[in-house]
Amino acid sequence: MTTILTVNNITKVYTMREGSVNALNEVSFAITKGDFVSITGPSGSGKTTLLLALSGLIRPTAGSIIFEEKHLEKASDKELAEFRKNNVGFVMQNFSLIPYMTAIQNVMIPLGLSGKTMIEQRELSEAVLGLVGLEDRKNHFPRELSAGQQQRVAIARALINNPTLIFADEPTGNLDPLLSTEILEFLKKINKERNITIMMVTHSPQAAEYGNTRIHLRNGTMDTLHSKETKTLTE
Ligand SMILES: Nc1ncnc2c1ncn2[C@@H]1O[C@H](COP(=O)(O)OP(=O)(O)O)[C@@H](O)[C@H]1O
Ligand SMILES: [Mg+2]
Repeated sequence: MTTILTVNNITKVYTMREGSVNALNEVSFAITKGDFVSITGPSGSGKTTLLLALSGLIRPTAGSIIFEEKHLEKASDKELAEFRKNNVGFVMQNFSLIPYMTAIQNVMIPLGLSGKTMIEQRELSEAVLGLVGLEDRKNHFPRELSAGQQQRVAIARALINNPTLIFADEPTGNLDPLLSTEILEFLKKINKERNITIMMVTHSPQAAEYGNTRIHLRNGTMDTLHSKETKTLTE
């Protein structure tokens, strides 16, 4: 079992004119490659801040984040951008699709700087749209797709760079229970079949059940790290 991500005592203080907020307080944990991690906790407990710090979009005030032996807190902005481009896919609650771009154009966005030709970019994007079952919707605009389909386009975009990690911030927050299950099952599938490590923030106890590892935050402090073995068929 390989450790992919190690977090040692990270603290994040947001400083503003009116004062400061301790969003994370000495949080520590280690994630094994291929884990499906659910991150739960009340609103304002630091879940989004944790994902942003892990992806290098914000820097922790103190502590270290080690991805495959590389210290992200010591990396330059350029190295962090490179780390994200090569290793990270994002899935957000509001799908964050560009409204005036078609499904395939949205999926192609991260390939912009890849050095691939337009034909290669199209072929790759079509293949990934096929993977999420939307090959026949590639020329549709987001408004012409259901919420579940829009989230699948967002997942295809997150997968396009073949990431090692997917960070999902309330990916089912805007979906009804049926579509939520569809998206969660799909995340589980790519987690299992492609061994992509998933870190998913969620409010929903049913969604959190998908994690084999659970992190619960309360006021910026981690109060549980719970790991369960993947359920086996024979009891
Ligand atoms: N950019 C920011 N500037 C100042 N305070 C922030 C900022 N982002 C988040 N916070 C504060 O940090 C705390 C944790 O926020 P957040 O990580 O968004 O929590 P969650 O995702 O669990 O709802 C909250 O008190 C929030 O108001
Ligand atoms: Mg949040």
